Amino acid sequence: MAGEGEVLGEDTRRIVVLVSGRGSNLMALHAAISGHEAGGVACGVRARIAAVVANRECAALVWAREHQIATRLVDESRLSDRADFDVQLGEAVASFAPDLVVMAGFLRIVSASFLQLFDGRILNIHPSLLPAFRGLHTHRKALGAGVLLHGATVHWVSAELDAGPILGQAVVAVGECDDEHALAARVLRMEHRLLPLVVRRVLEQLPPAGVLPSPREAATAQAPCWPPILPRILLVEDALVAHRDARP
Ligand code: GAR
Repeated sequence: MAGEGEVLGEDTRRIVVLVSGRGSNLMALHAAISGHEAGGVACGVRARIAAVVANRECAALVWAREHQIATRLVDESRLSDRADFDVQLGEAVASFAPDLVVMAGFLRIVSASFLQLFDGRILNIHPSLLPAFRGLHTHRKALGAGVLLHGATVHWVSAELDAGPILGQAVVAVGECDDEHALAARVLRMEHRLLPLVVRRVLEQLPPAGVLPSPREAATAQAPCWPPILPRILLVEDALVAHRDARP
């Protein structure tokens, strides 16, 4: 079923992307599913970004409007009551009938009621190798902890912050001279490769009708089991491979 009066092919998977900021992961995903290259990795899945939904005015929303993608702003500054915000966010996303919800730089914790609405259908990308460095300022934390490896994770969203089952990780080496800015930029480049790959892997498993049962329904009916156990994706930065190969 297409939302907002839009008609799509039955086999086209519908993605709603949640954003709060600059939107570079949104752009990488859009480029990949439009058949272009995203960070050197093509993603050939039949899918559409049905809408971009934000909790504040941001560059990602502007970009989406410029690219004729449906947008919805659920303005947190006008909704001081958290429950109200959660209800409106749920309604906004549901109106686009998503097969998959992708949190790409959505800097807000979602409620249990929102999770229930899209049970087993929400992905998040986080800029650290989870379970290390949950929450904000992950690059600063990685530098402070003196780790040699850092990166990004795509995971299913669960009730606990940055803690759902991991679907893929991208690894970068932390250089001796890295500051927060340099490290963030290298991790972000890997995010742009990782997210489309994980989205493709998840979408490839979607039931043909594009209607996902919740895990509870799947357990009771003959509906396809969702979410499935998927082979996880590991990406390693080229510089890290070269560094390893140069060692005796
Ligand atoms: C990305 O680095 C993403 O991993 C991070 O926000 C950035 C958004 O950048 N997400 C989180 O920190 C969520 N905990 P973008 O707007 O350019 O895609």
